Amino acid sequence: MKIIREPHEMQQTALTLRDKAIRIGLVPTMGAFHDGHVSLMRRAKSENDVCVVSLFVNPLQFNDPADLARYPRNEAADLEIARSVGVDILFMPSVAAMYPPDAQTFVEVTRVSQPLCGGRRPGHFRGVATVVAKLFMLTLPRRAYFGLKDYQQCRVIAQMARDLYFPPDLVFCPTVREPDGLAMSSRNVRLTPEERRAATVLPRALELAQACFAAGETNPTVIQTQVREHLATEPRARVEYVEVVNAQTLEPLTEIAEPALVALAVWFGDVRLIDSVMLTPPKPNPAPPAPDLGDISDIPHRTNVPS
Ligand code: PAJ
Repeated sequence: MKIIREPHEMQQTALTLRDKAIRIGLVPTMGAFHDGHVSLMRRAKSENDVCVVSLFVNPLQFNDPADLARYPRNEAADLEIARSVGVDILFMPSVAAMYPPDAQTFVEVTRVSQPLCGGRRPGHFRGVATVVAKLFMLTLPRRAYFGLKDYQQCRVIAQMARDLYFPPDLVFCPTVREPDGLAMSSRNVRLTPEERRAATVLPRALELAQACFAAGETNPTVIQTQVREHLATEPRARVEYVEVVNAQTLEPLTEIAEPALVALAVWFGDVRLIDSVMLTPPKPNPAPPAPDLGDISDIPHRTNVPS
């Protein structure tokens, strides 16, 4: 596995590979690898010629300096995991190299960055979009892989890529969960054992939303209330938001007649966890085919004789 720290060296390497028609699959990460990251790496490896993983704890997307300071970092373990998965290039730039003091260019995706986490973490998605745009230009991927665990992040990146005509195909991958259902997250290691146990309330609450919907409930307010009430059964859980929104626009809806997202952010101690599930209404049955009556011209006229 090659480790590259200099952005220009990364870009030169990517250009050389591209000239040889070698396709790069990129997995952007902030490190502290878990099986969610590994699932993206394996997929990138299997679908491309070269797998590039970036490891960069991006200060621009942290609205709270304390959160940045306590973000888990474990370079030695990460190197080991990346090597064992067969990552070809690990790109680990410094903050100074990614954000030179004279940098003046940032990427802002407007509408879809505003709801859910956007309103609570000002500047967060501007930081994400800016760093992902830089990573695309530095690694020139044919495909880039993201986890649906961070659903709004996926929507922001998809919108940016569409608006700016970014070339890579975006591949959005399912959320990898612990055996008890908790979505894997780098932040999980910061939970105390009691908080870790309490955090299983999140997948249970989302399963409840899915069960309500499967039972025919299409009123988002009713589903939201059920989720909130379930979260309230866990005293360690401090709810930041629970929302049921249109899965495309992330805006509120009055009835779940198209794909919806149940999204939540909940604090356990000083650890903020997010999770979500999709609620997808069944496609309306296509109009039944007209019965094949065959050629009715030869049906004998019924005589109106009572039997
Ligand atoms: P990070 O939290 O390290 O996540 C890196 C990638 O792994 C993201 O695409 C994220 O959605 C995905 N991921 C995290 N947990 C997952 C899980 N349980 N199952 C599947 N995929 C999971 O997200 C970021 O970093 C940053 O915002 C980044 C995109 C790198 C920009 O800085």
